[in-house]
Amino acid sequence: MRKPFIAGNWKMNTNYTSALGLARRLVEQLKGIDTVDSAICVPFVYLQAVSSTLSSSNIALGAQDVFYESNGAFTGEISCEMLKDVGCTYAIIGHSERRHVIGETDVVINKKVRAAIAGGLLPIFCVGELLEEREAGKTEDVVVSQIRKGLEGVDPERVQAVTIAYEPVWAIGTGKTATAEQAQQVHAMIRSLVAEMYDKNIAERMRIQYGGSAKPSNTTELMANPDVDGLLVGGASLKVEDFSAMIKTVA
Ligand code: 13P
Repeated sequence: MRKPFIAGNWKMNTNYTSALGLARRLVEQLKGIDTVDSAICVPFVYLQAVSSTLSSSNIALGAQDVFYESNGAFTGEISCEMLKDVGCTYAIIGHSERRHVIGETDVVINKKVRAAIAGGLLPIFCVGELLEEREAGKTEDVVVSQIRKGLEGVDPERVQAVTIAYEPVWAIGTGKTATAEQAQQVHAMIRSLVAEMYDKNIAERMRIQYGGSAKPSNTTELMANPDVDGLLVGGASLKVEDFSAMIKTVA
């Protein structure tokens, strides 16, 4: 009913040559796979080049961020229109590295989510708790608050554009994956929150990805959970063999 969705987040990695090489080899590896939606979220400067490489494939293109204004004096920022212009379908919004390294707030993230939807991009809206928040028993409070604030003012027709990515911060890039049970517990909580904020149908259709040290060896276990609909993959998405193996496993 919910089509699995596996996205790679390349973060601030690759260069022109390696980005194109990675995209080209992924296209070859994933030819003919249509039971899983896949996307790669590429550094801004390589989007256009990678877009051409993906043009005849089933792999969608995504950005790792987007600004909420459509044009003007916003030095260094990139708009939805620009991203669509170079072939993007998705934009990651509110990634933990933007929240905690760059200092993005829930208010900014909410503006970005709304602007992306209005501009025709599909947001991959990230939420997740820090280690100290988990240890203090605050995981649910943190995730609920991030989702309520991030989706504020997003109406029911428009929220269907959103994929939520649950990425526990302590599992990102650390090699520590949430156990299948930990992931499922938070995903189920997120789905019931979406049902409460919108309705049951919308919640049933909403795709919720897990992210945080997802790799070939834990893909089956994570994806076996009823509320885990996909993965947002960092490190392993930079290895063609790993990322394609994960998508093939799910397919
Ligand atoms: P890793 O898969 O490298 O832990 O990164 C996860 C992530 O942040 C994806 O957005």
